Amino acid sequence: MPTIDQPLWAPEIRQAKKFITMSDPFRIIPVASAQTPAAVDYRALDVARDHADTLPDGLLRPLRDLRISVTDRCNLRCTYCMPREVFNDSHTYLPRSDLLTFEEIERLARLFIRLGVGKIRLTGGEPLLRHGIEQLVEKLASLHTAAGEPVEIALTTNGVLLARKAQSLKDAGLKRVTVSLDGLSDAVFQRMSGSDVAVATVLEGIAAAQAAGLGPLKVNMVVKRGVNEHEIVPMAEHFRRSGIVLRFIEYMDVGTSNGWRMDDVVSAREILGRISERFPIEQLDPNYGGEVAERWRYADGGGEVGVIASVTHAFCNECTRARLSTDGKLYTCLFAGDGMDLRTPLRSGEGDRVLTNLIADCWSKRTDRYSQLRNAATGDAAGAVKKVEMSYIGG
Ligand code: GTP
Ligand code: 5AD
Ligand code: SF4
Ligand code: SF4
Repeated sequence: MPTIDQPLWAPEIRQAKKFITMSDPFRIIPVASAQTPAAVDYRALDVARDHADTLPDGLLRPLRDLRISVTDRCNLRCTYCMPREVFNDSHTYLPRSDLLTFEEIERLARLFIRLGVGKIRLTGGEPLLRHGIEQLVEKLASLHTAAGEPVEIALTTNGVLLARKAQSLKDAGLKRVTVSLDGLSDAVFQRMSGSDVAVATVLEGIAAAQAAGLGPLKVNMVVKRGVNEHEIVPMAEHFRRSGIVLRFIEYMDVGTSNGWRMDDVVSAREILGRISERFPIEQLDPNYGGEVAERWRYADGGGEVGVIASVTHAFCNECTRARLSTDGKLYTCLFAGDGMDLRTPLRSGEGDRVLTNLIADCWSKRTDRYSQLRNAATGDAAGAVKKVEMSYIGG
């Protein structure tokens, strides 16, 4: 494996760095625009560094979290993500040759880790559809940050194939899984997921993951007005006292396929209101800076529950997430129109140094804050004409 020479920090970055320390990495300082490193030409530099610090974007947000989509295919057709009307027989998925290989993913992951990433989440589509996914997990689980910490490997799944995969994923080094489940009754779940899969199948997957020790396990439920909102309290009741953290997610305007309308969103406040009518809850501090979920606990000791208010309470200020699409494009926002192609330089034989500088350059120029801009307007989508689909870059 080629190594990167000792880095040179641009003076602008040194200046910016003094505002971001490991003990307080998420403080956004108002002088950001004056200090922004966006003008630095990273291609001329060597930006892989000593890792005691981190790479700030144009709003001084560090790069911490990498989400890697390993397939654009899914065995469900959730109405909010891959509606059947759009993702039908005539939809063209990426050909196999376009997908990054496991070796290519591992190589890029190493470079992202050098730039500050400490957590990797595998997503899709449905990541368990990618043949031999355990081999990728094994490769990634062996990676360490410069400080010598193992990189945390998590995976988001719809749970359909989890019962048969949980143990082999655990054996490969997967730390934890998050399972999507939008209701407990078959009728509601099948309507939300556009499928005829039984809820029991997903619950079996969750149980297998728990038994394999893939925790702390989280369950994500997207709430859509008039479709599954009446499942909020039953879901809370079901997962209380299970050790599983249930998180309710506001339905977002990702992509252009799902026909999103603000009227379909059930706000986090309303969701919390419904839960607290049945079970008193109290708020908890975040686990880490930049956590997307607001954490709550049942006052009677029944465990933790959360809400993700990406529509009504945007968290762009602390967004430290980069996304790598199935075909190797780097997206710096869930709502971006396009990403930066890393596969072409990768396959044309560029070395680590060039690839690292490309990533650093892209991140350093990032000023994305789509959800905040949407909120600052009317609550309607912030006018992006072209938005990438979530099934292609992952949640
Ligand atoms: P952990 O804290 O590591 O468990 O993961 P997480 O909560 O950051 O990740 P997860 O993928 O479970 O996120 C849950 C949901 O939050 C996603 O499916 C999205 O709906 C939403 N979400 C996550 N990251 C972002 C983001 O960067 N922007 C927006 N707008 N929504 C996000
Ligand atoms: N709104 C909110 N979350 C979404 N996801 C996909 N599409 C949307 C959307 N429109 C997230 C859900 C799901 C995960 C795979 O992606 O959390 O559980
Ligand atoms: Fe598949 Fe997840 Fe999208 Fe549903 S939300 S269609 S399970 S990728
Ligand atoms: Fe990050 Fe974009 Fe989501 Fe804001 S909208 S939190 S910038 S991914």
